[in-house]
Amino acid sequence: MKVYATMKPAPGLLERLQSACEVSYWEGEGPTPHEVLLRDAAEAEATVGHYHWTADLMDKLPKLRLIANVGVGVDHVDVPAATARGIIVTNTPDVLTDTTADLAFALLMSVARRVTEADRFIRAGRWVPGGANATFLGRDVHHGTLGIVGLGRIGSAVAERGALGFKMKVLYYDVVRREDLEQRFGYRFVDLDTLLAESDFVSLHMPSLPSTYHMIGAAELAKMKPTAILINAGRGALVDEKALIAALKEGRIAGAGVDVFEQEPANPDNPLFKMENVVATPHIGSATAATRYAMAQLAVENVVSFALGKGPLTPFNPEVLTHLKRQRQES
Ligand code: 8YV
Repeated sequence: MKVYATMKPAPGLLERLQSACEVSYWEGEGPTPHEVLLRDAAEAEATVGHYHWTADLMDKLPKLRLIANVGVGVDHVDVPAATARGIIVTNTPDVLTDTTADLAFALLMSVARRVTEADRFIRAGRWVPGGANATFLGRDVHHGTLGIVGLGRIGSAVAERGALGFKMKVLYYDVVRREDLEQRFGYRFVDLDTLLAESDFVSLHMPSLPSTYHMIGAAELAKMKPTAILINAGRGALVDEKALIAALKEGRIAGAGVDVFEQEPANPDNPLFKMENVVATPHIGSATAATRYAMAQLAVENVVSFALGKGPLTPFNPEVLTHLKRQRQES
């Protein structure tokens, strides 16, 4: 089976792909240019990497049967279009959960304890005798109330860090109730308004869907405490960024930790980057060497398993497989 990788496979993973497939890949910087993809992936039945897959692109590569996405979120892949064309989409759940939760918590702590602000202060040589106030009074994280919006894999891992490590009271809101976790960790299931009104820290972990678009806007921010901090290490589209900027400017909330933006790469002129009470990172939730390797490895294993006729390991649209199986039985 021919495979095209939109990024150069890491050492070991290229060989693993080659053990079952004929592999070609993009070696350049950044995303594979369209004309290169259309030329080099023309015969490919599978592709692996992190790429923006539109219906139009899928139509131009009619041999494609599998898109192995390196990442758990698949919002840059038109999954309904893939499903309609019988293309399986796979993602990389679980392997990045703890790493992404660590980053969400790092943002939470950095904003609460003003870590990056204090770091800028000391680097600027402003910590001098009789100089500007260097006390940097922050907010306690321990024993605070943590509101988790979306108690899925990553949301749960953030909640556990708060409840077990920092003795926080955890509130959560989700479309699915998790009574098992409520009993085990003492989480309280509440509606979004209650969560916003009672939390000292609100952390967002919903996937990006039409139903979650701008779920935190001006009205929701207005319901938060003026001392509260918003953390978004989920997806930029969950937050109306203009409303967040206004709320921060007017002191309606105390701060924000943001790893994801409505536009990525973010515009360097984004007003968030000028605010002392904002900690911003360039979508690095899963960015540790070990986790990025594990993600790429899982994506590669999806391709290999598919190539060997065993079916992909972590399909995002498994209905395609059922459909294919039915087709095979009928023929
Ligand atoms: C990365 C992510 O941005 O997995 C996701 O959904 O957002 C991140 O891990 C990306 O997927 C890395 O390729």
